[in-house]
Order: sequence, then structure tokens, then C-alpha cells
Amino acid sequence: MSSPDPAVRAAELRATLNHHAHRYYVLDAPEIPDAEYDRLFQELQAIEAAHPELLTPDSPTQRVIGQVLPGLVPVKHEVPMLSIRTETDTTAGGALAFDARVRRELALGEADPPVEYAAELKFDGLAINLRYEDGVLVQAATRGDGETGEDVTHNIRTIGQILLRLIGEAPPLIEIRGEVYMRRDDFERLNERQREKGAKTFINPRNTAAGAVRQLDSRALADKKLSFFAYGLGETRGWARPATHGATLDAIAAFGLPVNAERAVVQGAEGLVAFHQRIAAQRDALPFDIDGVVYKVNDIALQKRLGFVSREPRWAVAHKYPAQEQMTPLRGIEIQVGRTGKLTPVAKLEPVFVGGTTISNATLHNLFELRRKDVRIGDTVIVRRAGDVIPEVVGRVPGERKHYVPNFRMPRECPVCGSRVVREKGSIDYRCSGGLFCAAQRKQALLHFAGRRAMDVEGLGDKLVDQLVDGGLIRTLPELYTLGVAKLAALDRMADKSAANLVAALEKSKHTTLARFLYALGIRQVGEATAKDLAKHFGSLDRIMDASVEQLLEVNDVGPIVAQSIRTFFEQPHNREVVEQLRAAGIRWDEHDGSADTSPRPLLGKTLVLTGTLPALSREEAKELIEAAGGKVSGSVSKKTHFVIAGEEAGSKLDKARELGVTVLDEAGLRALLAGGS
Ligand code: IVH
Repeated sequence: MSSPDPAVRAAELRATLNHHAHRYYVLDAPEIPDAEYDRLFQELQAIEAAHPELLTPDSPTQRVIGQVLPGLVPVKHEVPMLSIRTETDTTAGGALAFDARVRRELALGEADPPVEYAAELKFDGLAINLRYEDGVLVQAATRGDGETGEDVTHNIRTIGQILLRLIGEAPPLIEIRGEVYMRRDDFERLNERQREKGAKTFINPRNTAAGAVRQLDSRALADKKLSFFAYGLGETRGWARPATHGATLDAIAAFGLPVNAERAVVQGAEGLVAFHQRIAAQRDALPFDIDGVVYKVNDIALQKRLGFVSREPRWAVAHKYPAQEQMTPLRGIEIQVGRTGKLTPVAKLEPVFVGGTTISNATLHNLFELRRKDVRIGDTVIVRRAGDVIPEVVGRVPGERKHYVPNFRMPRECPVCGSRVVREKGSIDYRCSGGLFCAAQRKQALLHFAGRRAMDVEGLGDKLVDQLVDGGLIRTLPELYTLGVAKLAALDRMADKSAANLVAALEKSKHTTLARFLYALGIRQVGEATAKDLAKHFGSLDRIMDASVEQLLEVNDVGPIVAQSIRTFFEQPHNREVVEQLRAAGIRWDEHDGSADTSPRPLLGKTLVLTGTLPALSREEAKELIEAAGGKVSGSVSKKTHFVIAGEEAGSKLDKARELGVTVLDEAGLRALLAGGS
């Protein structure tokens, strides 16, 4: 029962909301639906409005965006925020040099054991000092010049991952330091929205995060999702500091702040080199930018012995990776016609080494962005290549042009097929109206179909596709499977052996999965993840082809636009014909399957809600079993819920189920469902 005393109830709500914020933002494992969180939040807001004296700085209502400051107030750091020496030698040599310096400073001989290091990522964002008094966040400040930073508490409070109150037994004073950054997907989404609005795009995640944190008006952060990783300490009082850096990070994680999992305690130079190489191989796959790794002597007592040179500790070093942004001259602008006919201006660059590879093409996205960035042939431009994101031109290096260069214009006719170029109302994209008549669209459709993540036809690259399409050998996808060795061997630069290899690869590709096949069809809005969800949910192609929009909407993450796109695709007789021809060519997969398992799916199309504690299964385990059986787990009970699985201390969801007459089962009942009984 909730307390009628507003002070007690407010405290209760604060604790509950802070708990759920941590589950949601830091652990990425929410326990309650968003609507329930909102309800509790509003209840707290109402109490605080009626009793302003009950407002506390750790109240989640204080995260709300909208504070505006006249200027940023300086903050003196009791413990200066240092910078780290940078090792620019991006080869293993950088790690060896650091270890050698540390050993020399510590007067270690060859016979002495290796030094222990804490190795972690070097996040590319903005350093922040978080000051917690008695566990409550009282101030957040930038690094500034290291001695004095700026108070940015109003903005930092809007970052969900930064707790307003630490978890557990917090010391009277602890300052936790780390990096505020923006994930690449959040950055891409932001820019995608900017592009849709025809607004200015942001250059890179780091500048965006740093710019946002230093805004006077916290409303500027409303559309920018920022994240945080802790990597060290500032001032502390009344706390027995752990003896190593590694243990310090563990303690910070236990307080509930995000600490990146890609960290390690390693031995000696060899350990550092291995870490540097392991992270280099993972760099593109990380969800955020890093510009290197950081090595720190793990033992705090040794750190103290090593001390500082000017403003840099002798016990730490940043070991860089190749930069993700470079400058290079723009040699030309070409138009690329995509799979859906979209015309994209592509920069032809003087080849340049960026983020680990040499690139000579980069996207300019669309005409409006190109104009806004005012890039013209002959300019020196900045290119960025980070992760799996397509390399892009982010801007031009300011400077006067020696000659007049006319502004780039979109062609009126498709440069590939000559069809009229159209711009749909309200869209900023120009499109070729030629459809599959356009060789470029056909080529892209084929390349997509044969791609590694789709049908995975080894050896079918763009050169070959060019020949097949330009030579008139292929007009439709199914014709791919009618190619014989003789036809192929007649092509340019195609020996008998490679022709035979391709035919074998085509044959091999016929045995696939439903998810891959769906993705390969190139249905608009259906990416790899959606294809997997569809395959998992429906289990068979026929069911997907015949699914109504409503049925499609039941699939995880499928919204109205995606559902309509799938529906429209399968409503076209032409597309159904393509599917039938592909099946006739011998393409097959195990039905009921999106991956490789062929287990029965007794809960297909069923929505279940879990509540309370089950005797044997954890929430996660139950969810996995239900999903493996084709069911969907929802956070709240509605008329659409098929079953509520209730355990000990089931709460309001159980009441709701009874109210709506939804079948309530216990764990044994769930097991019976999973086993196929109902
Ligand atoms: S430790 C005494 N660890 O790099 C060491 N810094 O030049 C103080 N940074 O401004 C910093 N990732 O913003 C440390 N894992 C990490 C880091 C990191 C990024 C940034 C930080 C600082 C700069 C150091």
C-alpha cells in the first residue's frame, strides 16, 4: 500500500523511479512499461507541486529539460582534471614505448616481473566531473583548463544514464569522472531527422555531444541522446579507495554508473599490445567512436610513485588509432542511382587514408546538404569514415576559391537510363522514374540479392553484375539462376573455372533461411533485423505474403509504415511471380525457421505478459522460452493479451488480467503451453 503521508510517498516514488531509470538507461533491462513509469512520475510531480518543500535535487523530476542559464558558472576542481600523454605511433611500438618508460621510472630490471596495467577504451566525447554528496548528484562540471571548468549540471541532468542518486552505500563525497559521448546510431538518427527537415546536419558525434553539454538552454538537448562512461575519480572524502584502478572501476559500476565492459587488466607490454590489437579489430563494430585506447598502471600505490610531468601523469598514456576524419581535395561529383531509384551525389576524392582504409568515394547525401555545405569541385573537403557507416563528406575546409566553380545541379534525366528524374511532393529526394527498366536499379537489386547478408552468392560482385545487366543476360532476379557455365564463360575476363565456380555458388545459395530470402527481396523498409523478426514471427513465407497489415503490426518493431510497405510489395502480382519463379528455381529453406532451428512454435501469434516472480524461471529465461516458441512478451495487459503468467507477488497486472478476463497461468501452465498444450 502506498503511504498517505506526502513526504513518505515522495521519497518512495523517488526511490522507485530512480531504480527504474537505472534499469532502463544503464542496464537496458526495464522492468515496467513506459506508461507505468510515466504514471509514477506524474504522481511525484503532483506531490512536489503541492508541497514544494519536498523537492530534492535527486528527484527524477529535476531531469526535465527546459532550464536556461544566463551564462555558465566557473567551477574550481579540487583535484585537477589532467590530460594524458598521447602515443601517436599507432603500431604496437606505442605500447612498447610506454611500458619501457614505466619500467625505467620504477627502476625495474629485466628480471623483474611485468607491470600490471588497466587497459580501456579512449572515448571520443567530453570529459565531465560528477560530484556526489551523500550519494546525490550535486554538480556536474566540464574539464575546462583542468583547474577550472564550467558548471553544466542543468544539461547533465537530462542524461538518463547519469544517476541522480548513487546505488548502495555512498560516501559523504565522491567525484566520478568520465566521458559524455553520443552513440553513432543516435548521431545518425539525429542527422537523418535533420535531413528530413532540410535542416543543418551535425559534423560528428563528438562535436555534437560537446556542443550540447555546454548549451545554456537545456532544451537544446531535447533531440540529442547523450551517453556516459565513467573512467576515474576526482575528489573523495570518507571513502576507502580500492587499491587498483580496475577495482575502482568495479566500485563505480556498483554505484550504478555505466563503465564500459571492454576493459581488461593485463600484464606487461605484451598484454597492452594484445589489447590494442583486439580493440582495433573491434573498433568498427563498436556502437560509438573511439580514437584510441588508454593504458593505466593498475596499482594506485605505483601510480603515486610515478607521479606527474607537468600536467600529465607518468602512469597513463593514450595509444591512438588512425583518425576517422581527414582532409582531401574534391575531384568531382557523380550521381549514383540506388536500388529504389534515389539519386545520390557522390564525391570523387583524391584517395585518402581514413579510419583504417583508403577511400576515394564518399556520399554527399542529397542536393540540399551539398548546397548547405557549399562544397564545389576543387575544394578541400573533410571526409569521415566511422564504423559501418558509409564514408561521408562532412564539410569543406574554409578558404577562398581561385576560380569560379558553378554550383552542382541535379540532372533532369537519369544518368543511367535517361528516364525522367522526379521529386515527390514533400520529399527532398530526387528519383529516377525508370524502375527496373533502369539498369542501375536492376544492378543494385541484384547486388543486394546476392549480398553476403542476403543470398550470399560468392563471387557475384559489381563488375560481373555490370556485365550481366549491360550484356542483357539478366533482366529479372530469377534469371540469375538460369545462367549456365557456357553463357558465363563467354563473358569478358571470365574463365571456365570462374564460371563454374559462380554456378556452384548460385547452387549453394539456393539453400538459405527464410530471413535471408526475405531480406534479399529488397522490400522497402525491410532490413535484416525486420526480416529476421518476420521470419521468426510467421515461420513461413506464405503466411507473410498473405498477412494483413494488422497481423504484420503484431511483429516486434514493425510499425505502420513497414507493415504497409510489406503489404504493398506482396500485393503486386509481379512480385509474387518473382517469388514463385525463385522457388521454382529451387530456392528452399526449412519452414518455421528464421535461423536454423526447426522447433515447433506453439505460441505463434500469441502475446503473453509476465508478472511477479516465477518459482524456477527468471524473467529473462521465461521471455526467451516464449519467444523461441513464437510468442511475444508484452509489458502491459490489454484486451489483446492472450495469457498472463503470474508468479509470487504479482501486482497490478494480475488485477488487470482478471478485470479483462484474460487467462492467468502459473509457471506450470506456461510450461504446458510451451510443450504445445493449450
Ligand atoms: S583518464 C589522468 N580514461 O581523454 C588521466 N581519459 O587527455 C585522466 N578520455 O580529457 C583521464 N577516454 O576526456 C581517461 N578511458 C579514459 C578516457 C579518457 C577518453 C579523454 C578524457 C580526457 C582526455 C585525456
